[in-house]
Amino acid sequence: MRVTLFGASGLLGRELVRELSGNDRRGEDRSGEDRSGQQDLLIAPSSQDADLRDRARVRESIGGTKGDFHSDWVILAAAYTDVDGCESNRDLAFAVNCEGAVHVAEAVREFGSRLLFLSTDYVFDGSKRSPYQASDPRNPTSVYGESKARAEERLLEILPEVCIVRTSWLFGHGGKCFPATILKLAANRAELSVVNDQRGSPTFTRDLASALVQLCRASARGVVHVTNSGNCTWYEFAREIVLASGLPAKVKPVTTAEFPRPAQRPAYSVLSPDSLHAYNIGMPDWRDALRRYLADA
Ligand SMILES: NC(=O)c1ccc[n+]([C@@H]2O[C@H](COP(=O)([O-])OP(=O)(O)OC[C@H]3O[C@@H](n4cnc5c(N)ncnc54)[C@H](OP(=O)(O)O)[C@@H]3O)[C@@H](O)[C@H]2O)c1
Repeated sequence: MRVTLFGASGLLGRELVRELSGNDRRGEDRSGEDRSGQQDLLIAPSSQDADLRDRARVRESIGGTKGDFHSDWVILAAAYTDVDGCESNRDLAFAVNCEGAVHVAEAVREFGSRLLFLSTDYVFDGSKRSPYQASDPRNPTSVYGESKARAEERLLEILPEVCIVRTSWLFGHGGKCFPATILKLAANRAELSVVNDQRGSPTFTRDLASALVQLCRASARGVVHVTNSGNCTWYEFAREIVLASGLPAKVKPVTTAEFPRPAQRPAYSVLSPDSLHAYNIGMPDWRDALRRYLADA
């Protein structure tokens, strides 16, 4: 399988590079093997090589300078992911997350590849109290969520065969993430306050990367929800992290209202795994994923 990956330096991108090439070096063509023993080829343009806002550079990254390169799949894991930053930088959020994705989709259509686009649970408003199905209506409450929701709509128009993977609450090695932050705080404080009224599914980038590659090999299309199984609040997540670390810090549950942030997050954003199970792909429980993450940290 030949893959072009945007966002290789990110939390998820690093694991995708590992998954597709068996190591985490970036910006190089690396070859691995798929299950049939065929060679995988990974091209991973950096944000300097191809800023998503630069239509011509994006096109060149996908089609080659003479339109002579062909990827089976383009995976778009690059995005402006600062959820609170998006609130004060609406134009940038839409330029990268929506128009940038459109640039990728147009090139993918021109060169006849397939596109896997990473989206988010934040396209939902969080008013449900049972897991969101892939077909549930979008109703984002933040600029970040809006930019992703609009990108989903545009991509489905441009590329009816696009595969849109919504995921949530990513954690993993090689970048900032919730467990790393909690471990640092727990090592320096006697008590941590963590919100207990937002519920979702933590997702280990290693498990997600594996599922994404399986979806590509299965020629997936449409909207697919991919998270670790089970769910918790941020407080419950933090409690589990501190418990596993053996540190003596106490974790105190607080409300979102006590710790207001610029972007409004959904109170409930658990994603149903039905769309993933349709491809016979399952995901481990988030507690199991957390143990593996911590063992390797
Ligand atoms: N993190 C989460 O909890 C979460 C939850 C749901 C969905 N997602 C989605 O999952 C995907 C991966 O997220 P992540 O947390 O791995 O992201 P991340 O760690 O923030 O990495 C973002 C990546 O995007 C690249 N990038 C940023 N702006 C760019 C631009 N203008 N042009 C080209 N590349 C650009 C960055 O390159 P540089 O390093 O060079 O800046 C980096 O490789 C994203 O689509 C995100 O929206 C994430």
